[in-house]
Amino acid sequence: MKPFDPGTLQITVQQGLKKFEILTQNTELSKDLNELFYKTIKAISSALDAKDPYTHGHSYRVTLYSMILAKHIGSDDKFMEEIETAGLLHDIGKIGIPQSILCKPGKLTDEEYEIMKKHPEQAEKIIMEVKQLHIISDWLKSHHERWDGRGYPDGLKGEEIPLSARIIALADTYDAMTSTRSYRKALTHEDAIAEIQRCAGSQFDPNLAQKFIECQDEMLKAKDNSEEYYKKYSCLEKKFK
Ligand SMILES: [Fe+2]
Repeated sequence: MKPFDPGTLQITVQQGLKKFEILTQNTELSKDLNELFYKTIKAISSALDAKDPYTHGHSYRVTLYSMILAKHIGSDDKFMEEIETAGLLHDIGKIGIPQSILCKPGKLTDEEYEIMKKHPEQAEKIIMEVKQLHIISDWLKSHHERWDGRGYPDGLKGEEIPLSARIIALADTYDAMTSTRSYRKALTHEDAIAEIQRCAGSQFDPNLAQKFIECQDEMLKAKDNSEEYYKKYSCLEKKFK
């Protein structure tokens, strides 16, 4: 207020600077915490991927393919961050599945398959404990639902299944088909795409399956250069690099 009193002015400026400093420190601290949170999620995902040599890198690649598809359908940065987190954690429920079932070379018995089928609900339970991840807990629970309602655990049908779970389901199946497993060799990219086409409308959301096929060249390039393409599509990597 005029007339200026030099002493009061000096105090006001000092207080303003102090506030600015605290605000900057808070912003930095919040960025550090978010980075820590992201890197922890990535570390948990890598630990899960390392459990089985046959599915090595599975969560990472499922996340990558999910991000490519999500970007292709015009998702905003917020959704891109959420789908990345969900992709990294989609199989976290497998932590509770015995290694003998997870890595069994050969077909699972009916009983073993029932145990394996519990992992989406286990994932939901684990993730519900983390307030910041509530939004994705439903997505993790639904990643084995099928468009025709014959999936698990809830037999959801069509658009009852969250969009992100429908995206992850496609990415998950494509990676499973194009990776060698203990009981079979990998399918070629072309055969995997033909299978996605065949299952559009039964296992998969038909529109989304079509979108997946539209970006199949990008998927194939990403498969062979996963780190480069992960950086290209990940908003979180850019935020915390
Ligand atoms: Fe799964």
